[in-house]
Amino acid sequence: MGIKMNFISGLLGFLFLDGLLLCTAADVHHYDFFLQEANFTKMCSTKSMLTVNGSFPGPTIQARKGDTIFVNVINQGTYGVTIHWHGVKQPRNPWSDGPENVTQCPIGPGTNFTYEVILSDEEGTLWWHAHSDWTRATVHGAIVIIPAAGTTYPFPMPYEEQTIVLASWFKGDVMAMISTSIETGASPTQADGYTINGEPGDLYDCSNETTYRLSVEYDKTYLLRIVNAAMNEEQFFGIANHSLTVVAQDAAYIKPINTTYIMITPGQTMDVLFTANQTLSHFYMAASPYHDSVLTFPNSTATAIVQYEGNYTAPSSPFFPTLPAYNDIGAAQKFTNSVKSLANEEYPINVPENINTRIYIAVSLNALRCPNSSCDTATGDRTAASLNNPPFFYNFTGDVSNVSFYTAQGTKARMIDYGEAVEIVYQGTNLGAASSHPMHLHGFSFYLVGTGSGNFNNVTDPGHYNLVDPPEVNTINLPKNGWAAIRFVADNPGVWFMHCHIERHATWGMDTVLIVKNGTTPDTSMLPRPAYMPPCS
Ligand code: C2O
Ligand code: CU
Repeated sequence: MGIKMNFISGLLGFLFLDGLLLCTAADVHHYDFFLQEANFTKMCSTKSMLTVNGSFPGPTIQARKGDTIFVNVINQGTYGVTIHWHGVKQPRNPWSDGPENVTQCPIGPGTNFTYEVILSDEEGTLWWHAHSDWTRATVHGAIVIIPAAGTTYPFPMPYEEQTIVLASWFKGDVMAMISTSIETGASPTQADGYTINGEPGDLYDCSNETTYRLSVEYDKTYLLRIVNAAMNEEQFFGIANHSLTVVAQDAAYIKPINTTYIMITPGQTMDVLFTANQTLSHFYMAASPYHDSVLTFPNSTATAIVQYEGNYTAPSSPFFPTLPAYNDIGAAQKFTNSVKSLANEEYPINVPENINTRIYIAVSLNALRCPNSSCDTATGDRTAASLNNPPFFYNFTGDVSNVSFYTAQGTKARMIDYGEAVEIVYQGTNLGAASSHPMHLHGFSFYLVGTGSGNFNNVTDPGHYNLVDPPEVNTINLPKNGWAAIRFVADNPGVWFMHCHIERHATWGMDTVLIVKNGTTPDTSMLPRPAYMPPCS
């Protein structure tokens, strides 16, 4: 098995896709995204911020598996922006992937650019977000991908579906805040709180009039499509008195998980069923941070209300869910480790059993010297982060402030041949400020075949890999001081950004690029460059 099979089925996949397009089984959708400033008042304070079509979260894109979506982004704002379709593989189409200054230059104010978002085998929930500096704080929304015509969910049809977008809220101007932070070297300002579908909920000041409410009918089952669009915090999420059944992650089905809470990292999406089977009342759904590092973080809880329809006297305060404590690493890992691919006949997986290339990537937080210790931090050095900064590979336990750093913060690109079966081993490094890192790769979904604490052992650890039903995802949670191994076939030619989805870490340099070379045929090569790409000056 292994590479040859994967390579051949990859070719067949392309032929099949061409066939679909010819007989127009897949639909084409068109959306207009107007980037515009709008005023919002939350947590007792008002600001103007960049939005799509004036809404926060932005509009939901709806499509079926295999459809193509054209999104015309019309920039009516004051600075350049790009949009990324997080988790959409965009086969052969890096042109529309969106990371600013990686695959395109920003869409300037007063100009527009039409993205071609090509769905292939994604099914479930993904999301889109701005991919320029910190604009994604306010510019994001869900992508809902329902099964192809004539097919259905691998679970009983829910009565209703609802997107649940978790986000951060900053009272100040996010773009001003991040440019100050880059200038001074100081940590970016922390969020003032969190939101569920744009609303902070009852636990924040000036917020209970607008709390998001989901009304439910007794005995019906609901599908929540949950997106963690928060900038910097992993989140626990749950609904008081109701158990959750997680059925998909990152637009791939999983073996159903029954649980009272989920842990979802920035970048991840999860499809969750719950049945309204409790005594008619009001119940909070809540999202509160999971935080495993010693650094400070905004420790507060966003809430929304699940309210039953019917005649009853609502309690003066809704029931509250019990979520794990913010630092409950065990609870976070227990949930994460329970995720397995559905991996059945109808939803097979395609994990490479043998690999051609293993790439080790050390993931670190560190620091860069500032002249005369002039940066605005405790040490006077600039906080930084890196992928493969050599001194930090494995076992580094020294004092951060005593190490001289390479200024090239791991930005070197890595080339891969078309069709190679790749394994990437992410190794978290053992620093005081260590935390977990949601590592995201554009252009692919991949299988999380193994994860563990401490240092990866290339002799013993691969023997314990799960090659039977590993989850197929686009963002993994690299555990604090631990490692994670992913596998995929590099069958998508193009330039693909890879980074930590904690925005603070990405800003500090926790990013790199994978370049998958063209294959030998047109069908295994990048699509031609579109006639128009935003100019770079
Ligand atoms: Cu969700 Cu490069 O991002
Ligand atoms: Cu990180």
